[in-house]
Amino acid sequence: MAQNGKSGKIVVNIDPEIKRRLYAALSISGITLKDWFRSTAAAYCDEQGQPLHSKATRYDGRGRKWPSSAKEVWPEDGIMEGIKQSDNFTQKYRVVSMFSGCGGMDLGFVGGFQVYGRRYSKLPFEIIWANDLNVEACKTYRRNLGHDAVSGDIWDLIDRMPSSADVLIGGFPCQDISVNGKRAGVNGRRSGLYKAMVEAIRRIKPRVFVAENVKALLNHKEWLRQVVDDFESLEYRVNYQLYQAADYGVPQTRERVLFVGTAADVEPFVPPTPERSAATWMTAEEAISDLENTERDPQINHIWSLANASPEQGNRRLVQNRPGYTIRAECHGNIHYHYRLPRRISMREAARLQSFPDKFVFVSGLRETERQVGNAVPPVLAWHVAKSILASLGASEK
Ligand SMILES: C[S@@+](CC[C@H](N)C(=O)[O-])C[C@H]1O[C@@H](n2cnc3c(N)ncnc32)[C@H](O)[C@@H]1O
Repeated sequence: MAQNGKSGKIVVNIDPEIKRRLYAALSISGITLKDWFRSTAAAYCDEQGQPLHSKATRYDGRGRKWPSSAKEVWPEDGIMEGIKQSDNFTQKYRVVSMFSGCGGMDLGFVGGFQVYGRRYSKLPFEIIWANDLNVEACKTYRRNLGHDAVSGDIWDLIDRMPSSADVLIGGFPCQDISVNGKRAGVNGRRSGLYKAMVEAIRRIKPRVFVAENVKALLNHKEWLRQVVDDFESLEYRVNYQLYQAADYGVPQTRERVLFVGTAADVEPFVPPTPERSAATWMTAEEAISDLENTERDPQINHIWSLANASPEQGNRRLVQNRPGYTIRAECHGNIHYHYRLPRRISMREAARLQSFPDKFVFVSGLRETERQVGNAVPPVLAWHVAKSILASLGASEK
């Protein structure tokens, strides 16, 4: 039973057992009940299109304005700027997105966002269908991409996918391959899900597809051969290579393998040229120093894990003048420490190291946000790859 008190406080009577479970869950997330309620209530009201109150203008450590209202952050097309005006291309390409997560790769494909003061232009890719098993990731996706992400198991939804698309993208789950995982390989329960991509490509026949995975896949020749053979059996030319995200302007040394398949009517894919080298990689300090004096703020995901140093993992401290280390999805709060401050990095700082723009807000608590950020393809890396795909498709600007 909720009542509006005169002071503006909301008094809620809840079942003692639920209260106990709620406190237990919040203590694991390192978030107070008050902050949890505030951010959940604000998100709920924004979702209904009726902001509870107009939020005061807030500033980051460099005096830049944080988005001040729900409308400003969540225009009807998601977070992208000028999506309607900047349509410089003569053609649009319809994209089906699988294993979409929070939408890191998808944001790179649609473009039209700003990060580190640089604008990544709008690209003529249009998401027509997206899916992820994780309900929380789908919420973040909808909020930021301005498009639905259907939640559910891909094998249950495969018959409901569009029957055609120009491009198919997906980062198939990597836990069975990852050096940090149990290593059951591409026939494992989760990494075997690349077979859902193979099946979707067989049905949809996109002109181009992109499949992303961890570097460890390259070290297992038999798994790699199986994946390439399965894609090639569908009569695509397959280019696969390792990408160092830092070479493309992401302040993180994150290596990922991308498979790009091109159909016979498409020019062979030429990977994007790196913009940076080790000597010019963007540093952690360049990416996050302006947040040093910003107080903890769940509304912008500036919250951090209070996990103690772990005996096994995640005790590294970022180095100020180097890019961040790879952000992992399953680190259980043991994310890297800040290079200067006596705490682990916040989710907003992690998102910056993954090249998410500040307008991209994760609609979830600490642990889920950690998973979404760590799982993502850095949008800036995806944007460079998407531009090269446009060249293969022969896209021409007006
Ligand atoms: C590596 S992440 C993809 C990240 C995404 N490409 C991005 O850039 O943000 C893999 C995703 O597959 C999802 N997933 C795992 N099993 C799934 C299944 N059976 N059906 C649909 N999605 C699944 C996970 O929830 C996870 O978000």
